[in-house]
Amino acid sequence: MTGQEEKVIVIDFGGQYNQLVARRVRECKVYCEIYSYRTPIEEIKAMNPKGIILTGGPNSCYEEGAPTYTKELFELGIPVLGLCYGAQLMNHILGGKVEKAPVREYGKTNTFIDGGKDSLFKGVEEETVVWMSHFDYISKPAPGFKILAHTADCPVAADANEEKKLYAIQFHPEVLHTVRGKDILYNFVRNICETQGTWKMDSFVENTIKEIRNKVGDGKVLLALSGGVDSSVAAGLLSRAIGKQLTCVFVDHGLLRKDEGNEVEAVFGKGGQFDLNFIRVNAQERYYEKLKGVSEPERKRKIIGEEFIRVFEEEAKKIGAVDFLAQGTIYPDVVESGLGGESAVIKSHHNVGGLPDFVDFKEIIEPLRDLFKDEVRKAGLELGIPEYLVFRQPFPGPGLGIRIVGEVSGDKVKIVQEADAIYREEIAKAAEEWKNENGHALPSAGKEATVDERFEHQYNSNPPWMPDQYFAALTNMRSVGVMGDERTYDYAVALRAVQTVDFMTAESAQIPFEVLQTAMSRIINEVKGVNRVFYDLTSKPPGTIEME
Ligand code: XMP
Repeated sequence: MTGQEEKVIVIDFGGQYNQLVARRVRECKVYCEIYSYRTPIEEIKAMNPKGIILTGGPNSCYEEGAPTYTKELFELGIPVLGLCYGAQLMNHILGGKVEKAPVREYGKTNTFIDGGKDSLFKGVEEETVVWMSHFDYISKPAPGFKILAHTADCPVAADANEEKKLYAIQFHPEVLHTVRGKDILYNFVRNICETQGTWKMDSFVENTIKEIRNKVGDGKVLLALSGGVDSSVAAGLLSRAIGKQLTCVFVDHGLLRKDEGNEVEAVFGKGGQFDLNFIRVNAQERYYEKLKGVSEPERKRKIIGEEFIRVFEEEAKKIGAVDFLAQGTIYPDVVESGLGGESAVIKSHHNVGGLPDFVDFKEIIEPLRDLFKDEVRKAGLELGIPEYLVFRQPFPGPGLGIRIVGEVSGDKVKIVQEADAIYREEIAKAAEEWKNENGHALPSAGKEATVDERFEHQYNSNPPWMPDQYFAALTNMRSVGVMGDERTYDYAVALRAVQTVDFMTAESAQIPFEVLQTAMSRIINEVKGVNRVFYDLTSKPPGTIEME
């Protein structure tokens, strides 16, 4: 059993929450994959799903050319849940009526439950808040369907043909604003679809290790280890599976956060907890040399990227031919590249595309290809990778190179590393205090916490102001200050902290003022070369998260 044979399929009609739906299903411990509505029914049938979920989408299902699906889907005897567009489409295909609603519903909406109290809405109060976002509505349920819920403006907020296990919900149970959303999805996925809940990270880790062994045999594997979450977890899995057949190349470009290079080496290098060939390339000076005199942001990015390829190429040549090149690709990468669902988001400017053609390899191996980011983190904990690696925030490839405005130098890197370390320390301290004061201390204080407890503690118990990404940057501006009796002429550091869902838009986080003040005074006292600290309030857009 891998946990993957019991699966729910999400059929994607282009809705913005498609990945979220799949993640919520997996939170019910049932494996879930996303496929475009263009996927033929034979393929869906062959996967033998326990249930099918139709997502939302931007179209009107009664319009010509709108995304649709064959009626046969509803005759397979497999439970189907339609969400928003999916709900409308299900009713439309089965003979109900969908039309433009007299009133558009958007946002949190009071909903009244009229039925399904032992099935889809089990445990949900008679009146509950849900998240609505629709222009069209179901004005007449399909024959055989009964209304299960309504709102003031929407006579069919949910309906169903319970005998055939076909359920349609106008609102979005996958978003957190739907107060009972998780329960509703759980009712569908676990009870209506009659699943056992076999998708767990410990069995995933165990099985993947076996699969890697089978696939690799006695072959050699090469992995570029960046020290980020994905490549670290991939390295951990591969090492557990094949030990010294794995070689990891870790390039320290001198633009990492404070102590990061040593931390990565401590875990994956000699004497660390994993058995593998670890090669650390100390290319710091090489990078600083290349970056000397360069202040234009795109040029800096280009130099850093190209130099990485050169360094990696040199190492690859020394290693010679390998059988596999390992990559830390994760499920959102697969979906967003258009292979999974409907919506192909192009993130080209961040992810350097293509494979390194200078590595002599036969095949690619991607052990994390099926996992969402939070699952990767859990797998990391299962493997025993320390929390400071597993819960690392996103860090850009060009590193501190794009957090130092203007020309980069070793001295400036040192300043920004020190300031950043202090800032992160203060935020971590304040977050921990908040957790302790608000009843989110680790539940098993005194004994070793389980992986799930540690994950909850780090991931789901944070203060409301907790940023999704935060760091210090060097503004490259110097100004006059006074320290003791002396006049100073030093750099200004900018502190950044943003809250974001998808990193495409972001708001500056409302860090408590005392935390900012403590960070500020510590930075000025402890970091030589800094006499001023700013807090960056800019949203994205118009700003970007990084400085350059
Ligand atoms: P921006 O600055 O574009 O950042 O608002 C959005 C997110 O992407 C990260 N980022 C990068 N990640 N290589 C990466 O791997 C890059 O060149 C890069 N530039 C930005 C940034 O940290 C943020 O999470």
